Amino acid sequence: MKCRVCREPAVVEVRRHNAGFCHPCFVKHCCEAVTRAIGGYQMFGPDDRILVAVSGGKDSLALWDILLRLGYRADGLYLGLGIGAYSDESGHITREFAARREARLVEVDLPADLGYDIPTGAAAARRAPCSACGLSKRHLFNRAAVEGGYDVVATGHNLDDEAAVLFGNVLRWDLAYLGRQHPVLPGEGGFVRKVKPLVRLGEREMAAYCVLEGIDYIVEECPMAAGNRHLGYKAALNEIEATSPGSKAAFLFGFLERMSPLVAPTAQAEREDLHPCPGCGEPTVSEVCAFCKLVAKATGVEGTST
Ligand code: AMP
Ligand code: FES
Ligand code: ZN
Repeated sequence: MKCRVCREPAVVEVRRHNAGFCHPCFVKHCCEAVTRAIGGYQMFGPDDRILVAVSGGKDSLALWDILLRLGYRADGLYLGLGIGAYSDESGHITREFAARREARLVEVDLPADLGYDIPTGAAAARRAPCSACGLSKRHLFNRAAVEGGYDVVATGHNLDDEAAVLFGNVLRWDLAYLGRQHPVLPGEGGFVRKVKPLVRLGEREMAAYCVLEGIDYIVEECPMAAGNRHLGYKAALNEIEATSPGSKAAFLFGFLERMSPLVAPTAQAEREDLHPCPGCGEPTVSEVCAFCKLVAKATGVEGTST
């Protein structure tokens, strides 16, 4: 197979585009897909300060790398979740990347800074680990961005992640979640804007980017995620994609173009009820935010502001 752009031998095949790319043209393809997502969804501009949430996995490291390559003002944020050897290794890999790129990395360690870790916190709060983890991440990303004066938080969610989340939300016709599913969540009412610049790139493309660019990343999935529903949705979509390449992109972008405008008002209405949580000051629609309730159960201490 030849590179679609320069006709040199291809090293990566992207079946969705029915195309192959050589190494330099593939890197260009990834950068262009990110640039197109940033511009098309008006994610941020060249002067904005971006906080990239980096897990040590391929997606978020590739995202950070691409944003730095494109000249954006992008710092990293790593959360130590206290998930044993998995967290030790992902923290180590993320620090090494930051040091090599001479980039600034902000770190928050759940056990040291907040007094709980995901496995014991989830058990104490009687939540599934991924639910306690997702809640903690959303909250702490926002808090770190507000405290650091960042304009926007960027996560490494890719096309496969977004299609799988959409699939789950559609299976349950969860209108509140569907209303919030977008590559850009606006910054308002105490929330910093959240963006997903990898929405146009698939999981395999991100792995190929890291391998070609020599970016070391943690290959293992989080041990607490094994068997969760999200992985099942991904596997189902992969089967469909294998027989009809392009289905995932058609599913996601069809939703974003045609359905999202119809369901977004549901999420907007919810945002109008936001007020600061008395425990931590972060915006919430309940009396005390879900994060403060989680931390109170996990540590036995009320209030989480630092
Ligand atoms: P996940 O929910 O594990 O699929 O991760 C989705 C995105 O959240 C990643 O692409 C990262 O941007 C971010 N993320 C996940 N884990 C961490 C972490 N420990 N620290 C900082 N960001 C993270
Ligand atoms: Fe959050 Fe696994 S990364 S539970
Ligand atoms: Zn709170």
